[in-house]
Amino acid sequence: MVADDDDDIRLALSLLLSSESYKVIEASTPKDVIIKASQQKPDIILLDMNFSRDTTCGQEGLDTLQQLKQSAIPVILMTAWGTIDLAVKALQEGACDFIEKPWNNFKLLNSIKQQLCFSKIKQENQCYHQLFTNDVSDNWVCQSSSMLAIEQLIKQIAPTDANVLILGENGTGKSLLAERIHQLSHRQRSPFIAVNMAAIPESLFESELFGHQKGAFTDARQNRVGRFQLAEKGTLFLDEVGTLPLPLQPKLLRVLETGSYEVLGASQTQTADVRIISATNADLSKLVSSGEFRQDLLYRLNTLVINLPPLRERLDDIEALAISLIQRFSLKYNKHCVSLTKGAIKKLRQHTWPGNIRELSHVIERAILLTTEPKIDADQLLLESTETPTNNVILQPLEMAEKQLIVKAMEVSSGQVLEAAKLLEISRNALYRRLEKFCIQYES
Ligand SMILES: Nc1ncnc2c1ncn2[C@@H]1O[C@H](COP(=O)(O)OP(=O)(O)OP(=O)(O)O)[C@@H](O)[C@H]1O
Ligand SMILES: [Mg+2]
Repeated sequence: MVADDDDDIRLALSLLLSSESYKVIEASTPKDVIIKASQQKPDIILLDMNFSRDTTCGQEGLDTLQQLKQSAIPVILMTAWGTIDLAVKALQEGACDFIEKPWNNFKLLNSIKQQLCFSKIKQENQCYHQLFTNDVSDNWVCQSSSMLAIEQLIKQIAPTDANVLILGENGTGKSLLAERIHQLSHRQRSPFIAVNMAAIPESLFESELFGHQKGAFTDARQNRVGRFQLAEKGTLFLDEVGTLPLPLQPKLLRVLETGSYEVLGASQTQTADVRIISATNADLSKLVSSGEFRQDLLYRLNTLVINLPPLRERLDDIEALAISLIQRFSLKYNKHCVSLTKGAIKKLRQHTWPGNIRELSHVIERAILLTTEPKIDADQLLLESTETPTNNVILQPLEMAEKQLIVKAMEVSSGQVLEAAKLLEISRNALYRRLEKFCIQYES
């Protein structure tokens, strides 16, 4: 972008830059600069320091520079009234270079090329940083009492090598939790390998998990490294383990029991040094009762069990999760949204979240795309209808239903009366009265 109030200067710079194959946008006032910068996102801005004919102090340029700061677009300041002081000030305020008019074409083009190159490296660096800091810990939100209890539990169990089974509805964070356990374990420097059991075709199960040698079967044209070997010394995450077909279960059971397996087509037995974390949204004990899941396999997987509660039972996590998601998506879509209005928070707390955190994440992403304000309002939160389907409701005396709800709320909040009262949206005293009335035990 070429930003200058002088038509001749804009023309001269545009001609110079077009001849070097740059695409040029022009802006003639500071306001124009800000609007076009946010709408058209130029890669670099050449910014004049004085837009009004009678000023020479450069303040207009510095003010505009200040407003452009958040956009992270590199800005080269230009002025005919250059002094060393002004140049120093401009660079301190975040300009990437300072060029005096009349400019030297060669120097100007060189500076542009250099700054574009720096900016590209900076962006790449940011991407790598995000990729490699693998911010499970940064992203991990836990504020509700049930999640704090889980947090304490995982700090205890992560350093052990015990197998962990994570249970929870869709989108409650099972996969993220598995990664977090790995990162808190002594295996953190070795790989975390996830395998979705629902996505492996039955015929490829062994090859996927244990690998194969070239020629082991008709389609085996190359050697293949199995997931167990990839996860060696690290953690293997068996996602959706409840979908594993019965005939394949003994193959998994064997490696879990003996710690050894064979690569297809190879005669040597391999030993696996792998910690197993598995997850499912299925009721495994029910599957065991109906004969669809082997009891002995379940015993191998569930040395330790973590139940991730659904989001509707973790009301105190909702706001913090929403804020963390707002930060993530604001960065992604280059928006400057930072928080939620009180009305928006209330709306989020009242929703039942059948899709849990994944649903919340979609709702926030949509809101960020729609909003132009720094705060998201209730209207921008497009929630699916939350009406309770009446066909699941058991018809019973109202008092019984009330008692059941209270027992459930106490369970979910691990006996914490204040939190249970919040879930039920009644006062603490109102809950105490009902606990007494229904003779429900609680710690005072
Ligand atoms: N405690 C948490 N803090 C922050 N973000 C979370 C948390 N738990 C889950 N998320 C986010 O919610 C989304 C869903 O999480 P995840 O994929 O781990 O759920 P899941 O239970 O494995 O879902 P599925 O059953 O569909 O496999 C992800 O974007 C994840 O980053
Ligand atoms: Mg998952």
